[in-house]
Amino acid sequence: MSLTFTAGADSLDLRWADGTSGTFPYIWLRDTDPSGFHPQTGERVFELSSVPLDIAPVSVEQSGTNVLITWPGADEPSLFDLDWLKTHRPGQRRADAADIARTLWRSELGGDGVPRHDGSGIMTSDAALADWLADTKRFGLSIVTGLADHTDAGVDVARRVGHLRETNFGLTFEVVSKPDPNNLAYTSVALPLHTDLTNQELPPGYQFLHCLANEAQGGGSTFCDGAAVAEDLRSRDPEAFEVLSTISVPFRFQDETTDIRSRKAVITLDSDGNVSEVCFNAHIADLVDLESDQMVPFYRAYRLFMEMTRSADYGIALKLSGGEMVVFDNRRVLHGRGSFDPSTGFRHLHGCYVDRGELDSRVRVLARAV
Ligand code: OGA
Ligand code: ZN
Repeated sequence: MSLTFTAGADSLDLRWADGTSGTFPYIWLRDTDPSGFHPQTGERVFELSSVPLDIAPVSVEQSGTNVLITWPGADEPSLFDLDWLKTHRPGQRRADAADIARTLWRSELGGDGVPRHDGSGIMTSDAALADWLADTKRFGLSIVTGLADHTDAGVDVARRVGHLRETNFGLTFEVVSKPDPNNLAYTSVALPLHTDLTNQELPPGYQFLHCLANEAQGGGSTFCDGAAVAEDLRSRDPEAFEVLSTISVPFRFQDETTDIRSRKAVITLDSDGNVSEVCFNAHIADLVDLESDQMVPFYRAYRLFMEMTRSADYGIALKLSGGEMVVFDNRRVLHGRGSFDPSTGFRHLHGCYVDRGELDSRVRVLARAV
């Protein structure tokens, strides 16, 4: 392997034969020495504070496909594989099988366009599980079909993904019209498009709603891709986008035993400026407590976002049947339902949540096998 390297005052420059180059600060090389990681757990055991920030090597030499770096006071030199250094050169993010690009969608997707995956395949085949999870990440929405007619069937699929996220509504919850509801979902009224539990410090990631019966008149489901709405708002009305991504407002849920509150912006951006999260729930929005002069700009932007979610450009509609389970990223895709008349038939959904990190972990572990 033809390689050139230059040991500077505070970093090592490497240039590979193919022209790839990297500047590796010595403090990073010292901290990243492979022998500083536990051989079984892979966790870092090197104690960073044991070396000075301006550490510099005594010598750097190439040895076959490795580079050997001798540090002052260290018993052994650091041995780095040159290919490994090339892959992990500064500025390169670690490859991530869970980094699956989103497909933003609008009303053209239609209820029939929602990816559908067979539940028994997901339960028995890792390849089918991986395919379904990839689609669910792309669209933030999928439907699992062919589930058995008992409440465990949907939960078993969710557990195949990861640990359930328990909330004040339980490890799982029954969406049925109840005589003494503590939540509008447990009535028969319409629920406009929303995301769940925006009052939580971390709203749950993926929501699983397994339909066991949907025989009443009404009760259809609606969905919209909040990330598509937010991205379109960014170009359509940058001022409204700025307001919704910077001003946070309070959300609150309370009943006999809980009073759970959190402040959230409607739109959260990641460190690259992409929309990473949407938080929208008019029912549990608490009193808007902004300064007087922020109110009208906030309400203008908030109403615009609300109108966009409800417009014909973004929403899709479908009616879940018994044996189907809708799965969606609750921090991206808004969901809603039409009112229903409980006197005309039974409607029963069984729900649970699994956080985003759990799902991503499953995607990565499944990708190890291929
Ligand atoms: C919910 C909800 C939708 C429905 O339980 O959070 O929004 O279809 N339910 O009943
Ligand atoms: Zn909901």
